[in-house]
Amino acid sequence: FNVPEPKNEPVKSYAPGSPERKELQNKLKELRGQQVDVPMYIGSDEVRTGNKKPMFPPHDHQHLLGHFHEGDASHVEQAINAALGAKEAWESMEWEQRAAIFLKAADLLAGPYRAKINAATMLGQSKNAMQAEIDAACEFIDFLRFNVKYMTEIYSQQPPVSGDGVWNRLEQRPLEGFVFALTPFNFTAIAGNLPTSAALMGNTVVWKPAYTQIYSADVLMQVFKEAGVPDGVINLIYVDGPATGEVVFNHPDFAGIHFTGSTGVFQHIWKTIGENIYKYKSYPRIVGETGGKDFVLAHKSANPKAVAVGLSRGAFEFQGQKCSAASRAYIPSNIWDDVKKFLLEDLSSMKMGPTEDFTNFINAVIDEKAFDKISKYIADAKEADGVEIIAGGNYDKSKGYFIEPTVLVVSDPMYTTMQEEIFGPVLTIYVYNSEHFEEALELVDQTSPYALTGAIFSTDRYAVELATKKLRNAAGNFYINDKPTGAVVGQQPFGGARASGTNDKAGSMINLLRWVSPRTIKETF
Ligand code: NAD
Ligand code: ALA
Repeated sequence: FNVPEPKNEPVKSYAPGSPERKELQNKLKELRGQQVDVPMYIGSDEVRTGNKKPMFPPHDHQHLLGHFHEGDASHVEQAINAALGAKEAWESMEWEQRAAIFLKAADLLAGPYRAKINAATMLGQSKNAMQAEIDAACEFIDFLRFNVKYMTEIYSQQPPVSGDGVWNRLEQRPLEGFVFALTPFNFTAIAGNLPTSAALMGNTVVWKPAYTQIYSADVLMQVFKEAGVPDGVINLIYVDGPATGEVVFNHPDFAGIHFTGSTGVFQHIWKTIGENIYKYKSYPRIVGETGGKDFVLAHKSANPKAVAVGLSRGAFEFQGQKCSAASRAYIPSNIWDDVKKFLLEDLSSMKMGPTEDFTNFINAVIDEKAFDKISKYIADAKEADGVEIIAGGNYDKSKGYFIEPTVLVVSDPMYTTMQEEIFGPVLTIYVYNSEHFEEALELVDQTSPYALTGAIFSTDRYAVELATKKLRNAAGNFYINDKPTGAVVGQQPFGGARASGTNDKAGSMINLLRWVSPRTIKETF
């Protein structure tokens, strides 16, 4: 199988004076000056229902970016019909043609659309330039290119053994029916990957993004169209989640869900699918990457500066709204004073404000609901016994949904913010007796139901080995002497277990195998 060997897309620096910075600034200005009118894409139609909903930057909620057209249950039906109608032609297309379409999409994003997708992510989701670049540009380009390679590995798997007079074959067919991609707000790359990975394997898709990601989803759809994704292969609809689910999960041709989002929503969906199981032609594939309560554990031998940097970057990039974000830390008493000093120094250099000012590291959280939820945790912490706020603690939603990077130090390792996913810029630290490393390991493993990412900082190899063994089931992505965010496609396949998901590793052969249904053929001569 001859496909271009994928390489990770180089991350541009956006340094002052660089041409990419100028281009991005111009694009931001251009988009801010426009009022977009975003349709749904169903089959060959751009659907404008007239039920217009506003879109604005989370860091500037008085500035209108435009509107999207909201649909209802009838549009979900239409999208399913469009997907089913496009299925035969798409699944019988040679794999090289499908691959070429998505490789072209990657090239469009790497070149002519790079500034636009980054600017849309900066404005619509309030990511700073670097966070947009590593997500909307690089990570999604990597997903597209590496998935093509993984697809060829699936198609070239060792065939079954044949014997005298018998020829055995294994055929990888797309699923029978349509795939539903239900995507979150926090990564443009994930929003793009969930529909395209299933489509690459020959499936047709109904895609429903989070309403707070529609501004950049529309740009992705423009890229897919320009790359040559045929009408009906990916149908993008803006219908409220439960209303969409009501139609999709009752449909006999529902073949699978590719989900990323919160644990509660995924559990609800799984239960609904279970209740409807007799309605479907096949057992649907259920692939979900869900919440996290990701940890940093330091050993007494750890380098305090490395721990502090791991905490500040791991907890506060994109305002802590990464499923992988460090949100609970276990720091040994012998190095705590130094870790605290370096952490506070680092935080004091993090400016907060709108994304259009490239010197701001911290921007706004996604919407008012998130702002209210996160600030309530901080307000409760201010009232709680045994909780000290050593950084941040202030918030203001008058212009945008801004929350300072906040660090809580707790005397009780089971305090709520050590256990619950907050999904915002709040880090909780428990300082443990540095001689009791094994107890700290036990706490890390037992405190939270999630198992997405985690990190151990240590210069003692015995401690690293012990943590690696003991925390075997506590994280699907485990980092040694690094922050727990920033997995790179092709290098650190990403996904968690326990309440964090089905661990089908986004951007891997494991994931793509979920979107095919093999047929064994035996021919006797
Ligand atoms: P969310 O669960 O609120 O929404 C995800 C999607 O589900 C959205 O499109 C939403 O509209 C839809 N939805 C919500 N309720 C629904 C319902 N009852 N029926 C059908 N659809 C429904 O998640 P979010 O706030 O967009 O994203 C943040 C969450 O995603 C966090 O919990 C985060 O940890 C998780 N996440 C996980 C990973 C991972 O790889 N594990 C990656 C990114 C985000
Ligand atoms: N790929 C993202 C990270 O690892 C989810 O932070």
